[in-house]
Amino acid sequence: MQTVTTLPNLRLAVDEIRKTGTIALVPTMGALHEGHLTLVREAAKLADHVAVSIFVNPRQFGEGEDLDAYPRQLAEDSAKLEAEGVVLLWAPDASAMYPQGYATNISVNGVSDGLCGADRPGHFDGVATVVCKLFNQVRPDIALFGEKDWQQLAVIRRMARDLDLVQPHADAIHGAAIVRDPDGLAMSSRNAYLSATHRAAAATLPRAMDEAIARIRDGQETAATLAMLEDELLGAGFSRVDYAELRDADSIAALDGDNGNARLFVAARIGQTRLIDNKPVSSA
Ligand code: PAJ
Repeated sequence: MQTVTTLPNLRLAVDEIRKTGTIALVPTMGALHEGHLTLVREAAKLADHVAVSIFVNPRQFGEGEDLDAYPRQLAEDSAKLEAEGVVLLWAPDASAMYPQGYATNISVNGVSDGLCGADRPGHFDGVATVVCKLFNQVRPDIALFGEKDWQQLAVIRRMARDLDLVQPHADAIHGAAIVRDPDGLAMSSRNAYLSATHRAAAATLPRAMDEAIARIRDGQETAATLAMLEDELLGAGFSRVDYAELRDADSIAALDGDNGNARLFVAARIGQTRLIDNKPVSSA
């Protein structure tokens, strides 16, 4: 595996790799876990070569968020990627990504509204901007993202289509299923922040979501069911529920009941840690 940290070296490396086949890109912020490695394994099935980027993108962190505390462990991450057969690790520093005087921002309307877009102003602009840059830098044939960050995936798909960033084939932006711990909690680099007590309580999140989905499928009222879900999380030790909402899976438009393409989205805080999860409601 080749690790590159500057744009000129990235171009050389990508040109060389492209001579022998297609490239799948897996963008990450590092602190790699099985969720990320599953994306890498899926990428290897979809293209000849896998490239991974690791960049803790300051533009997607808001004021008072965990940019400084975000786990950075490049040596460990690099060993994991090497073991997976990744050919290229793109690990720029912030000055290579955002040179002096950087002034461009990408904003994707509609799908960025609500949920994490409302709670974290500017977050999806930061994500769209860095992912657009990563696509231009690596020029992958396909890129993979996790359904763990469902709204992020919707934002990136919209941007890629709107700006002709990738070849227009159906699977150019490939979404991968959420990888969960055995107790159901979605894996996240931020789970490392949790104390043992909070980690045990965190498993209430996916369980309570399953219960809420069963009730909605059973025909119970959505608003009352979501209120019950919030109460259950607060009772289990969560300090705050940022949102618990039903939305259309594709447009991310708000719903007050199952429209046949509904998904349940929750963000909730336990200790200092903000956890997000989403699950399909409609059985179709
Ligand atoms: P990061 O949180 O490091 O996640 C990198 C990719 O791994 C994302 O596509 C995310 O959805 C996926 N992922 C994380 N946990 C997962 C899980 N449990 N199951 C499946 N996939 C999972 O998301 C980002 O970084 C950044 O916003 C980025 C896209 C790199 C832009 O900076």
